[in-house]
Amino acid sequence: MPERVVLVGFMGAGKSTVGPLVARALGWDFLDMDDRIEERAGRSIADVFRDQGEPAFRALELEVAEEAASRPRLVMAAGGGAFAQPATREVLKRGAVTVWLRCDAATLEARVPADGLRPLATNRAIMRSLLTEREPSYQLADVVVEASEGTAESVARRVVERLAARGIEVGKSAG
Ligand code: S3P
Repeated sequence: MPERVVLVGFMGAGKSTVGPLVARALGWDFLDMDDRIEERAGRSIADVFRDQGEPAFRALELEVAEEAASRPRLVMAAGGGAFAQPATREVLKRGAVTVWLRCDAATLEARVPADGLRPLATNRAIMRSLLTEREPSYQLADVVVEASEGTAESVARRVVERLAARGIEVGKSAG
């Protein structure tokens, strides 16, 4: 039986919002990969990109994925690029059901502000080409859930239904 649920998908797909709702429904812990990276780095993601560069950020991402791979009963929101890195994807898939929150490009652009907090979203042309480039990686997730429409709660419900269909017990230890 899977020990983890990993939400993947592009920036703005709702991973960090839907993730805690799914965790609550299952009675599992929640971990946001980006938050953990910032904790380990002792600085913001924007600062890591600026001072150390994207390769250093991707290395931290892999470390956090490895750390999470030993935690049972965990729902994790992966960073938008994590599943497109083959080594990180392999670690994320280990013992997990991976769920792609699929969103159309217009919705993603509307949801993600170009405020510099997400360095790869500042330039919209780069953002669009990244989306095209990454879709084949997201397709490697075990489950696809449409996340362009509806509230976070309704998306979380759809995710939980799909997890239940794969034998994950819902609310077993929710207290
Ligand atoms: C990134 C997505 C971000 C964050 C970083 C890089 C990407 O995560 O990990 O800015 O490469 O798409 P979210 O998808 O949670 O915004």
